[in-house]
Amino acid sequence: MNGGSLIKELQEMRDDGHLSDALLRKAVRRISEDERFDWVGVYLLRDDELWLHNYVGEPTEHAKIPVGTGVCGRAVAERRNLNIPDVSKEENYLACSPEVKSELVILIRAGDDIFGQIDIDSEKKAAFKEEDEITLIGIADKLAEQLAAERREAS
Ligand code: SME
Repeated sequence: MNGGSLIKELQEMRDDGHLSDALLRKAVRRISEDERFDWVGVYLLRDDELWLHNYVGEPTEHAKIPVGTGVCGRAVAERRNLNIPDVSKEENYLACSPEVKSELVILIRAGDDIFGQIDIDSEKKAAFKEEDEITLIGIADKLAEQLAAERREAS
């Protein structure tokens, strides 16, 4: 995954006037090109629920996830990224597909404001390395910049 070139592309989209909707779709498509990642999506936080914005992969029944529920909801409740090497050991887990073995959730946040998250599933155990987390945090931060700017404009 070439995070640097995607972050540059996202900034160019911002400079050209694209809104967060386009950036979120671009980010999911580009991240999903990494063949270790079998499902890639973005959830946005609205009140106390995560709403699925867009994804690449098999359809999921988890289009809305309450904060605190599943790995996705727990990341928001605990305000931290979660790298789950073996989902079968998780009690609070919402299965998308029986094939999924590991999951990574990276929050899209600007300081204390959490806008949502990038959620990635892999059919391999322990698929996500520290360098993936660092790359994805950079991408999530760029998405958060745009979401924060839109929130400021709306208020
Ligand atoms: N596994 C997630 C649910 C989302 S699906 O993986 C797309 C969870 O436990 O919150």
